[in-house]
Amino acid sequence: MLPGFSWEIVRWQEAHGRNSLPWQNTRDPYRVWLSEIMLQQTQVATVLDYYARFLLRFPTVKELAAAGEDEVLGLWSGLGYYSRARNLHRCAQDVMALHGGQFPETAETLQTLPGIGRSTAAAIASFCFGERVAILDGNVKRVLTRVLGFSADLAQSANERALWDNAAELLPEQDLAETMPRYTQGLMDLGATICVGRQPQCLLCPVQNLCQGFAAGDPGKYPVKTRKLKRSAQALSLLWAKKPDGSVWLEKRPARGVWGGLYCLPVFESDDALAADLPSSLRERLDPLPGFVHVLTHKDLHLSPWIASFRTGQAMPKSLVSDERPGAWFSPAEWPALGLPAPIRKLLERDA
Ligand code: ADE
Repeated sequence: MLPGFSWEIVRWQEAHGRNSLPWQNTRDPYRVWLSEIMLQQTQVATVLDYYARFLLRFPTVKELAAAGEDEVLGLWSGLGYYSRARNLHRCAQDVMALHGGQFPETAETLQTLPGIGRSTAAAIASFCFGERVAILDGNVKRVLTRVLGFSADLAQSANERALWDNAAELLPEQDLAETMPRYTQGLMDLGATICVGRQPQCLLCPVQNLCQGFAAGDPGKYPVKTRKLKRSAQALSLLWAKKPDGSVWLEKRPARGVWGGLYCLPVFESDDALAADLPSSLRERLDPLPGFVHVLTHKDLHLSPWIASFRTGQAMPKSLVSDERPGAWFSPAEWPALGLPAPIRKLLERDA
């Protein structure tokens, strides 16, 4: 199938791909794994700073495993998709506890770790160990469906499985220690820079003459996927309790649900529910701030913040403190280091 395809990708990667990103030119699985998790939903330009800070604080998987979850979430703060950070931490702990501190060396075993799916496992195994195993992330699906003229609907899992099988058949056959890392990176680079969603740069593509999408004049119709994300909306009211010295009251969110495990202003289902939980002395001194919308992958959050000005030494009312709502006052020197949802951080920073 498609003779020459993998060779073209490997040669093109060498000459035109990205070759000096900080997670390249290493076969250390810890570094490669960290980069792949960060890059799952985030652009390279954003990841660079976070990656450097993580490695400075956690040079090896051992330090990461030994850290507290709050610190890990704090360093992750702003990258979004926080389940990635919680899984990252759990994965580091599993590598220490179950694998003697060494990452497994096959995609099959890597996949058993938290947060490492089939494609990420394959990326790590091919980059670090030259394993002959296929990746298939969103960019690579686009490249391969176009090249193959694969028009079956990827919303159906049987079709997705067939594409995985095709991806495996296209892999290089020789010199795997050298060709697999280049081939894997080459597909990623091609998808990110040439074979892009809109206006692919087919004239620059190394596999243009093998590409059925190009031959038919409509590469843009791939990949075919019918199911649309169902979006929902949720209204949340936020209590911004603050003291004259700039301290704010923050709660640790439950592990499941929106902003799981992060520190946050107390959240209520509505403005009425917020007011109802406050004693009348505080209720009368609530100030509304303009509401705003924060867009998550599956949900639009309509946030409505209320300022409650506390006096120095004034305690948080009992109605707002419980085992389900573990909260505390945090000074302006403390809260910036906590893992906070990006919109909450922005809100608090406007005031700082
Ligand atoms: N996205 C996912 N993995 C990547 C990598 N290794 N280099 C650049 N972008 C990526």
